[in-house]
Amino acid sequence: MRFIVAIDGTAGSGKGTIGRAISNHYNFKYLDTGLLYRAVAFNLRSFSCDLTRISKKNILQAIQAINKNILELKELRENEIGEIASLIATKPFVRANLLVYQRDFANQKGGAVLDGRDIGTVVCPDADVKIFVNATESVRAQRRFNQFKEQNFETSYNEVLANLRKRDTQDRTRQIAPMVPSKDALLLDSSAISVQESLEIIILRINTELKKITLNS
Ligand code: DC
Repeated sequence: MRFIVAIDGTAGSGKGTIGRAISNHYNFKYLDTGLLYRAVAFNLRSFSCDLTRISKKNILQAIQAINKNILELKELRENEIGEIASLIATKPFVRANLLVYQRDFANQKGGAVLDGRDIGTVVCPDADVKIFVNATESVRAQRRFNQFKEQNFETSYNEVLANLRKRDTQDRTRQIAPMVPSKDALLLDSSAISVQESLEIIILRINTELKKITLNS
């Protein structure tokens, strides 16, 4: 069975936590697509590229150098890497080269959950369930700041807030695959509800779609 859950949303909205929990609940495979953009950003920085003049060759090398070890690096979560990721994500050549991998991942048998910015609109426009998660800026910044504190990252609430704002603006206003909710996405505001409550809403939606597939097969 092929079943795709697309979870998009703003930075720090909780889409990663939700995506992982949904994948565990249904035993679907999970891909944090933001991590791919972060890994490209990390590799470009470690090649000491001039980030204002990145060539297609640099990008291809940075994508080819992505591996399991890099994807597990704690540094990928840093604010600075997030900012570079958001910047390079505006480049059509980067997006085009990450698209095939994401689509292949989504279409594997047994179900897949992908989270990002353009999953419901560009990567998997035919996804079975689409969710767009958002929360107020202050709630998102506080949550992110708390996570950073737990992981002993040195940062301040104001720095986290500025980083979220800058990335959201860049991600929303870029020409290619901007962060916008797909017309058929369920809009979820997680500001005032718990993760558990968000999950209950999404599970209800997924179960409805799964039932349709069972009835039609
Ligand atoms: O989800 P994240 O915060 O780890 O993503 C980091 C950046 O990567 C984000 O600011 C924009 C980019 N990104 C994207 O353009 N498209 C995606 N599907 C996922 C992430």
